Amino acid sequence: MAEKLAIDGGLKVREKPFPPRGLIGEEEKAAAMRLFDDAIASGNAFGYNGKYEQQYETDFAEMMGGGFADGVNSGTNAVFCAVGALRLDALSEVIVPPITDCGGIMPVVMAGCVPVVADADPRTYNTCAEQIEPLITERTRAIIVAHISGDAVDMDPVVALAKKHGLYLVEDCAQSHGTTYKGRRVGTIGDIAAFSTMNGKHHCTGGQGGVVFTRNEKLHWQGRRFADRGKPFNVDPADGTNGNVYAGINCNLNDLSAAIGNCQLKKLPQMIASRVKVGNAVRDALADNPIVNVGWQVPDSQSCYWFLRTTVDPDALTVSKNQFCAALSAEGLGVNPSYRAIPSEYTWFQDKACFGTSGFPWDCSDYKGPRTPQAHIENAIEVTDRNFNITMHESCGDQEVADIVAALEKVASAYAK
Ligand SMILES: Cc1ncc(COP(=O)(O)O)c(C=O)c1O
Repeated sequence: MAEKLAIDGGLKVREKPFPPRGLIGEEEKAAAMRLFDDAIASGNAFGYNGKYEQQYETDFAEMMGGGFADGVNSGTNAVFCAVGALRLDALSEVIVPPITDCGGIMPVVMAGCVPVVADADPRTYNTCAEQIEPLITERTRAIIVAHISGDAVDMDPVVALAKKHGLYLVEDCAQSHGTTYKGRRVGTIGDIAAFSTMNGKHHCTGGQGGVVFTRNEKLHWQGRRFADRGKPFNVDPADGTNGNVYAGINCNLNDLSAAIGNCQLKKLPQMIASRVKVGNAVRDALADNPIVNVGWQVPDSQSCYWFLRTTVDPDALTVSKNQFCAALSAEGLGVNPSYRAIPSEYTWFQDKACFGTSGFPWDCSDYKGPRTPQAHIENAIEVTDRNFNITMHESCGDQEVADIVAALEKVASAYAK
């Protein structure tokens, strides 16, 4: 007979809460204090683009195996500056992912371009070449993919598509610090990448932050100028320019955040390794479970597990997915039953609520594409219906792995048809 579930008054698999992340430690505190001490001694407030930020950018680029990093003040602005670096004409179409944070898509509109939403590969929260290809028009200039939950997009076919059509490829790595695809780190595969370093991510620069990374030096400088009001960084005065060379806003990181980031980067390899150990252990333990498994990953890729995307077959259950998740929560797991982060379902997108009542960019008379925002999200909805997220992080260990597996097996066997 199946064990009595905690939701029905049985014993919980796990009584204690999961351990805290412990993301910020004495190292970050000491680094911040050093900045204060310097500021007090010198009489000058700390600033931005100083030695701490330069160190952060150098270390970040080194971690990526070489290239150029620019610290910015959020993941949203990292996407904005990555798109800004491309210098797209207004009203260019940019293909964007279906499931993501709004900060992964709104920057396209803010850059005066038109987001066209590609559907998901039904096995993941991510988009794929098959969904992107039919959306390419003569107006398309770029593709943004996002490695959601830490799972890699199947990049080779997307790269081939981008090359074939002469499109820029932007990787949104907000949730995937350290994910690998065929031995390469995500963020190094497209033309330019955006990272979020807000406090919930694998590594942080304090409360908010982000990084634009590229191996293309030209894009790097265009991105840096865009991120700082078009200042003439790396512009040759002989070029005949005068003052700021391109319109942008101020998306700079600051030295305090960078000083925190410097400490965090040192910890990041260990954080990634711990998450991979936990995620893979749960994945392997559930590999043969007929009802519930860790979500499918592209072959020869390794998720860095921002959370544990878990796939359940609703047709194999006697209850709804929400009831299944409620039972898991009652067993002591942190569960988000539905990651329905589909920005094209939201009011701003549906109502074209971007630039007053103008309907820009879709309603602009110069735009020759559809007036109704395009979003292909049938698979995305299905995949959110068949998946849920379990909270896990780098401070979890063998006990948490055992508890996650035990809770999933217990609830799955109790609700199996
Ligand atoms: C995929 C993705 N893109 C962009 C963002 C925006 O990042 P931020 O919150 O740092 O602005 C997020 C935030 O979680 C995200 O998950």
